[in-house]
Amino acid sequence: MYNRRKFIKLSAAGASLAALSASKIARAATPPATAGFPIVISTWDFGIVANKEAWKTLEKGGRALDAVEAGVRIPEADMNNHTVGRAGYPDRDGHVTLDACIMDEFGNCGSVGAIEYIAHPISVARAVMEKTPHVMLVGDGATQFAVEQGFKKEKLLTPESEKAWKEWLKTAKYSPVINIENKQHAPGNQYNHDTIGMLAIDAKGNLSGACTTSGMAFKLHGRVGDSPIIGAGLYVDNEVGGATSTGVGEEVIRNVGSFLVVELMRQGMSPEDACKEAVHRIIKKKPDTAKNIQVGFLAINKKGEYGAYAIQKGFSFAVCNAEKQDLLIPGKSFY
Ligand code: GLY
Repeated sequence: MYNRRKFIKLSAAGASLAALSASKIARAATPPATAGFPIVISTWDFGIVANKEAWKTLEKGGRALDAVEAGVRIPEADMNNHTVGRAGYPDRDGHVTLDACIMDEFGNCGSVGAIEYIAHPISVARAVMEKTPHVMLVGDGATQFAVEQGFKKEKLLTPESEKAWKEWLKTAKYSPVINIENKQHAPGNQYNHDTIGMLAIDAKGNLSGACTTSGMAFKLHGRVGDSPIIGAGLYVDNEVGGATSTGVGEEVIRNVGSFLVVELMRQGMSPEDACKEAVHRIIKKKPDTAKNIQVGFLAINKKGEYGAYAIQKGFSFAVCNAEKQDLLIPGKSFY
């Protein structure tokens, strides 16, 4: 059920939003969450602006792949976003290392792990997919490839990120903050991570997905999370649907989370039930760990039905189609 109206927010911008009456909002939020297509959904509140950008491609009849790449570039470029892209917090040695992956309707995929000095890892991931015989490039090799492809090499560590890192160095204590994505500007809550995962179905009914993050703030140098790993942070099967994840990537990797969600949908589960089962696997394997971390899954099936589920309360996702631009709907949670 998605009819907890107190959580529903609409962007102030846009005439179509103003036109949505309260009753329409309530109906839109009532399951089954079927929206048809084109449609784009993405993780967290910052998915609202990302969806808006993706929608510009989808409403013109463009390809879902182009939509998701354009969409997630918005948080990647946001200088106030310290969990994705160029203003992401660095690792414990002061390096800003980014992870991203992308997957299209043909099962093509590309990814970069721990790439440095490049502000838009999602576009490098797409270049890996389209211009190399490989799926994944990491570290210096990924940066070298990006530069060869014409991406600008630049220092990503912002003064604000550097200040936060130096503050963290005083204690060098890593303690995950649940749902940091929605709290990251609050004092004392800047020491964590998360991810935008985006899934879209275009007017032709084809699916694509993208996932990008700066990963855990102050992680060990070289740490790579779930976000660039196909099957963990993202998976798309054009016959079935797509899934993406957010939260502590190690637990997602252990359970090959997004692939699991898609396979469960293949067996007939709804997107929300599939996400719920994937969360339950994480909790079952490591109940003590799960109490203190957040992991959320977001999924869409071939019909445009979508759903989400997270370990902890507070996970949000954004939905955008012709009728309900920027509707923000809570994911359900175990706790
Ligand atoms: N889910 C993002 C990460 O763990 O890096």
